[in-house]
Amino acid sequence: MLAELKLQSFRELVKSASRDELIWMNGYLSALINPDAATAAETTTAATAPALESCTVVYGTETGNSKKVATDFSARLKKQGVPVKLKSLDQYRINDITKESCLLVVISTQGDGEPPAAAKKFYDFLHENTPSLSNLKYSVLALGDTSYPQFCKVGEDVDVRLNELGAERIIPLKKCDTDFEDDAQQWINDLINAALSKTTGTPAAAVKTKPAKTGKKVYDGTVITSVNLNDRGSTKETYHLEIASEEVVEYEPGDSIGIIAYNKPSAVNKIIELLQTKPDEQYLFREQTSSLQELLTNKINIQYLPERVVQNYAKLVGKEIPSIRMDLVDLLRIYPCENCDTTIDTQRLVSVLEPIAPRLYSISSSPAAHGDGEVHVTVSRSRFNVDGHERFGLCSDYLSSLKEGDTIKFYVQKNNAFRLPAAEADMIMIGPGTGIAPFRSFLMERDAQGASGKNWLFFGEQHFVSDFLYQTDLQALFETGVLTKLNTAFSRDQQEKIYVQHRLTQKADELYDWIQSGAHIYICGTKDPMSVDVEYALIDIISEKGNISRVAAAEYLHDMHENGRYHKDVY
Ligand SMILES: Cc1cc2nc3c(=O)[nH]c(=O)nc-3n(C[C@H](O)[C@H](O)[C@H](O)COP(=O)(O)OP(=O)(O)OC[C@H]3O[C@@H](n4cnc5c(N)ncnc54)[C@H](O)[C@@H]3O)c2cc1C
Ligand SMILES: Cc1cc2nc3c(=O)[nH]c(=O)nc-3n(C[C@H](O)[C@H](O)[C@H](O)COP(=O)(O)O)c2cc1C
Repeated sequence: MLAELKLQSFRELVKSASRDELIWMNGYLSALINPDAATAAETTTAATAPALESCTVVYGTETGNSKKVATDFSARLKKQGVPVKLKSLDQYRINDITKESCLLVVISTQGDGEPPAAAKKFYDFLHENTPSLSNLKYSVLALGDTSYPQFCKVGEDVDVRLNELGAERIIPLKKCDTDFEDDAQQWINDLINAALSKTTGTPAAAVKTKPAKTGKKVYDGTVITSVNLNDRGSTKETYHLEIASEEVVEYEPGDSIGIIAYNKPSAVNKIIELLQTKPDEQYLFREQTSSLQELLTNKINIQYLPERVVQNYAKLVGKEIPSIRMDLVDLLRIYPCENCDTTIDTQRLVSVLEPIAPRLYSISSSPAAHGDGEVHVTVSRSRFNVDGHERFGLCSDYLSSLKEGDTIKFYVQKNNAFRLPAAEADMIMIGPGTGIAPFRSFLMERDAQGASGKNWLFFGEQHFVSDFLYQTDLQALFETGVLTKLNTAFSRDQQEKIYVQHRLTQKADELYDWIQSGAHIYICGTKDPMSVDVEYALIDIISEKGNISRVAAAEYLHDMHENGRYHKDVY
């Protein structure tokens, strides 16, 4: 097979190699031959010696992606004989960090560059304390979304901070977009590879990985229906939008769509006027050059700028500006740059601005019931007051203004932590307001699939007459028996306020029976106060009916979450 000269070199190399080096070469060659290097690296080393020291793998997650990667990774390490502890960051005893020798962190970024709720304690501890971590080796995998201004900020912060505290990076931080699977596999391979090279002294990066996919799939959609679900007399506007796509939309009940809204031409024109520049002048923004008009319309956030952007603008124009959020147009009007050269300083300004963040909307349709060529969403038009003037949220206003025939771009945001249970399992769904959206999808999917599990829905809004979202759909599902039980709470139809958590408490006996019999619990809608109050009510019910302390009841709910029976999708 090999020419004489090559065979001779090969024999010499093999003869001079240690056992560890032979193991490494074995893995290297298998990975070269088999492009599915993840498996190759794993099987070749599994049969031989453990390459990594014992490790703790921790994850900080909101929607389950980091947990999935961390779990897969731990399984692969275990297969290789490496002792692994896997922990969610809310269960991790932070004081143990000084005793660790190897810590592998998988963590996402949420909000506007914030840690997931379960990782906040860990994140704050690292930033507010100075434990000596000179015996620790670590690596961080950051999950995020390139559409957000603060891409993978939390992973970056954790990586930098662990290093500042004296820990030694095994491999550099890896940042992943929403299509994180391939990048995560590559990080895992790189880590294993780096550990192998440490044992053998051979340079890392020898294991080949599949080329990473980049970018998320963006669909072109056309609005085929737009209906305001609220009736006359309501203080709210909630739009049911049906969006058709020429392509198959790959989604499952529980997923959301992500949308980047456009800025209004009137606001864009005002900014161009204040900058005294031309709309078609070209500027560089985040590695792409476009006209100012295009950038301000489609790419740059001009509304309610974060304080960090306001402060960067203050530095740019050399002025003291209070640390508050404000719109770009007000910033330029109140604090103009007096001695600015138009072109150069517009480019500088563009450089301190940030992209429009996507907004997510739970999908309220079901692939089985509505086909995979369309998605439905349920959008509440956000309305608020600024200095006595009525204002609207950027994206919900944009979506509310769409008419039949209008086109729209969107992507699918997977939510593997919010999925239908097995067909025979029972579900308790708590979804006031737009929290109803994924449950419409769940119920219609179960109806279309003939799932045998029982379904109980708690829905709430202000008034029965004007705010009973999807009343007709729900009544039809109730009449056909798909919806086993429906309880509503219309908060303002009587003197005292009644919310979904009050209905839960009223139904405590039956609820507890359902939970004890294995029902899954789902909550969707506003994070604060709704989901917090609902969770307190659930803890009270479990404590009272199960005759256990509130602490034990909270633990019970936590176990349900860990075992995939308690799911939250709150915002
Ligand atoms: C997983 C997930 C699922 C979701 N599902 C749904 C859903 O099914 N339906 C739904 O309706 N929403 C849903 N949301 C919420 C949605 O993504 C948006 O957050 C919501 O529509 C508000 O976005 P907006 O662009 O309209 O408002 P934004 O422009 O982002 O404004 C938000 C808030 O900021 C403040 N604000 C903004 N501008 C100013 C200003 N100039 N001055 C002072 N204050 C200001 C106001 O308080 C305003 O209400 C979901 C969110 C998540 C994370
Ligand atoms: C409301 C919201 C805010 C987000 N904010 C950011 C952000 O500021 N920066 C970022 O990189 N990703 C952001 N993301 C994207 C998530 O980090 C990404 O979806 C990740 O895969 C989630 O992983 P998890 O399921 O482990 O939490 C945000 C996602 C949501 C739903």
